[in-house]
Amino acid sequence: MQSVNASASTAEPPEHVLRFPERFVWGSATSSFQIEGAHDADGKGESIWDRFCSVPGNIVDGSNGHVACDHYHRMPDDVALLARLGLGAYRFSISWPRVVPDGTGAVNAAGLDFYERLVDELLGRNITPFPTLYHWDLPQSLDDRGGWLDRDTAHAFADYTEAVVARLGDRVTTWTTLNEPFVSSNHGYVTGEHAPGHTSATEGCAAAHHLLLAHGLAGQRIRSLAPDAELAIVLNFTPTEPASDHADDLRETRIVDDVENRWFVEPLTGHDYPTETARDLGWDRREIRDGDMELIAQPIDLLGINYYTRQVVNAAHEERPKEFGTTAMNWEIHPPSLGRLLRHLDATYGFPKYMITENGCAMPDERRVGDAVAGQIDDADRIDYVRGHLAEVHAAIEDGIPVVGYLLWSLFDNFEWGWGYTSRFGIVEVDFETQERRPKRSADWFSTVATTNEVHLADTDTDSDTDTGATR
Ligand code: FCB
Repeated sequence: MQSVNASASTAEPPEHVLRFPERFVWGSATSSFQIEGAHDADGKGESIWDRFCSVPGNIVDGSNGHVACDHYHRMPDDVALLARLGLGAYRFSISWPRVVPDGTGAVNAAGLDFYERLVDELLGRNITPFPTLYHWDLPQSLDDRGGWLDRDTAHAFADYTEAVVARLGDRVTTWTTLNEPFVSSNHGYVTGEHAPGHTSATEGCAAAHHLLLAHGLAGQRIRSLAPDAELAIVLNFTPTEPASDHADDLRETRIVDDVENRWFVEPLTGHDYPTETARDLGWDRREIRDGDMELIAQPIDLLGINYYTRQVVNAAHEERPKEFGTTAMNWEIHPPSLGRLLRHLDATYGFPKYMITENGCAMPDERRVGDAVAGQIDDADRIDYVRGHLAEVHAAIEDGIPVVGYLLWSLFDNFEWGWGYTSRFGIVEVDFETQERRPKRSADWFSTVATTNEVHLADTDTDSDTDTGATR
């Protein structure tokens, strides 16, 4: 690991400047359904999110992904914007129903063409593509056949993966199978907040197992088709703490931690699903067949970590002060939990490498510089959020934890699932009437971080000296 000692290249006290390792990867992340739009263009099939959005009440503002950021039609300009920001990496997802409209069977060449153009556009601008094969937009026709409750969906995923890797495997160096299987299985099958909107704890367990099986089967195909590529999966973690020593808080913390944090990482590293909690949930484990657990535990090269918030588990649901505040979605801001999480994961599982594949926040975005209407969004709160988390990442690297990159969520304001367009996570503002993109002040700030490889802790939220203004 390179030294990441503070730099003395500025007038600031060295401890105020965090220098990152030479080849640290800086980038931003998006996902297909959240930005692409073009929901039925060029042979794309319906996804479970297209269907879910059509049911009144599912999305707070009644919106859908039909147009979203219209990225499908604006992709070259969007890649040019990434390049102007000086970002070296871009994490995006591939829409399964765009590539295999019915989930199984015929491959839609036009769908693959789009991702090929995207990858080539990125590479042409020296931006490393980090594609994710599944970020929640399952083909609807697979859901009609059982979706993630059906073991065959895992095999269909492996076939779809093969089609994608056969086309792009000569250019992509890291393949990520799934994004946040916890959210796919929990929100999709247990709470019903996400597509396909089921509400059953045991279905959640079945879906989770089939998702991991899909990861394992796809991983095998990736290894055989692209033996030099790295294999990754992206998990989200919400570190938990009990609010007190009370037995109820301790018990509930154990369950929440098992379900939200350990359910996927344990089997991926050769352990069982959290046994006690699986029993408490009433899961009879009938979906697990001989060989499944070995397949799931095949080694990966990189663990992608999505971190947004922590959870203090209070069985009595009392309100409690939040030291670092909350985001516009009322998620607690708690950078120290990211540092603790990295240390915990490394000490417990020792993955070869880690990347922060998502971290960021929805903020009110009400303050503008200068002209109250046309001015740039002055999102000092978002800058503070990212800076606080980057300081934790830096400290973890100094402790010897191999964190190789940081991808900010998100490049654009976009379709935030059940929240529709009411939650704005972008460092680039999107006017959904005109599709105009306007970098926020956080974009300029992050651009400076990425291009200098340094985070200045001393710059206050009103100090824009360190911004390059590259995007203005
Ligand atoms: C993550 C998702 C991503 C986005 C952020 C805010 O759980 O992976 O698509 O919605 O949360």
